[in-house]
Amino acid sequence: MENNGNTNIHNEDEQIVTPWKVESKSAINYMKLIDKFGCEPIDGNIIKRFEQVTNMKAHPWLRRGIFFSQKDLAKALNNYEAGKNIYLYTGRGPTSEAMHLGHMIPFMFTKYLQDAFDAFLVVQLSDDEKYFFKDGHDIDYYNALSYQNAKDIIACGFHPDKTLIFSNLETLGGALYKNVAKIMKATTGNQIRGIYGLDLNNNIGQISWPCFQAAPAFSNSFPEVLGDKEHSYCLVPMAIDQDPYFRMARDFADKRKSEGYIKPAVIHTKFLVGLCGVNAKMSSSDNSPTIYMTDNEKDIRKKIMTHAFSGGQETLEKHRAIGGDLEVDVAYQYLCYFLHDDKRLEEIARAYRSGQMLSGEIKKIMADVVCLVILHHQNERVKVTQKVIDHFFNANRKFDLSRAPREPVELDEDYSLYGFNFDLTFGLTGPEENQSNKTYINNISN
Ligand code: TRP
Repeated sequence: MENNGNTNIHNEDEQIVTPWKVESKSAINYMKLIDKFGCEPIDGNIIKRFEQVTNMKAHPWLRRGIFFSQKDLAKALNNYEAGKNIYLYTGRGPTSEAMHLGHMIPFMFTKYLQDAFDAFLVVQLSDDEKYFFKDGHDIDYYNALSYQNAKDIIACGFHPDKTLIFSNLETLGGALYKNVAKIMKATTGNQIRGIYGLDLNNNIGQISWPCFQAAPAFSNSFPEVLGDKEHSYCLVPMAIDQDPYFRMARDFADKRKSEGYIKPAVIHTKFLVGLCGVNAKMSSSDNSPTIYMTDNEKDIRKKIMTHAFSGGQETLEKHRAIGGDLEVDVAYQYLCYFLHDDKRLEEIARAYRSGQMLSGEIKKIMADVVCLVILHHQNERVKVTQKVIDHFFNANRKFDLSRAPREPVELDEDYSLYGFNFDLTFGLTGPEENQSNKTYINNISN
């Protein structure tokens, strides 16, 4: 058994990370989550191996430790190197018409992984999940949102012949449902209570939901595309709060090893912080300001300039004297995601930390960078016509499982400071008076 221990219980430092709730008094301690969930941190060794095997340079989110945790990524790489295809699985529970920037991180990264592995991708739109877990709308509402959200997903640039998007409400049946049923039979109510903290007061849609999220992680759920003789390796990119589903899926695979089931590999991202501070992730369900992918440039800039929590000092004089605090500055956190040039990032870090760059200036840089990302997305999104959507949802077409050869990439000299060892503060310590107990150098991008 893997560590399936109670995801829903407060631990000593009062951080809760479950599929339903992410709450923390201070910045989330991701190293603790790695321990608790039984994962491995992504380090320079695996990043180097990733580059060697895929012939693709590591995405800045890998190098910078934003995608920070994994299970069995090395095994996935071994399989891929041995010439076997691996496939990707991720998903989205459609709750709002527009997706926000935080929602996009796993999808943007999945697009990169699809290119790196030349891989087939399935995207589960869990409209049933949201119907079970949310109130206030009828079932068709969530179903319709699947199609709205699919536009944002397709706009990430997924390969039209290598990607299948499906709504659970519309497609469950056949081979996929057979796997759901097998997982249901292998899972007791007590296990569900133990893993997710759900109990008999929850509706039974909620109680059975985990089996539905786990099933697409097995390749024989898609026999028309991936065959049903030999299982293919599955890699699931996701935000870390979704991990419990895949601990369950991995346990199930273990039990069914003799039938060929393979434990899915997983790769986890940290949460993009909300504008109000590093303690909360970007969210559409509370009242804090959120950057939606459909916002116009003027509104985005306004939200950033008025709300992005600043690590700067209260007065200009004081700021020039002691400088800004990179670790709590929201604008800086966003630059760690969206400004991919390490040199430029370091320059900004130094200028801001020294007090030479002001709060308004770093926010302006954040606004420029974020607007670029969103305007590009919007450009792509308008191209997603109904015809394009229909194509991505059509399961009865020929998918392209070929792998194009790629020239090896030039490796870097030293990988030891990559991944969870990447120092996003470039050796700069915080202003004296703001120094708290810094246990992990890498907590900055929380
Ligand atoms: N549960 C996810 C959400 O609420 C949606 C989802 C379904 C998902 N299948 C997935 C996420 C697989 C990651 C991987 O948004």
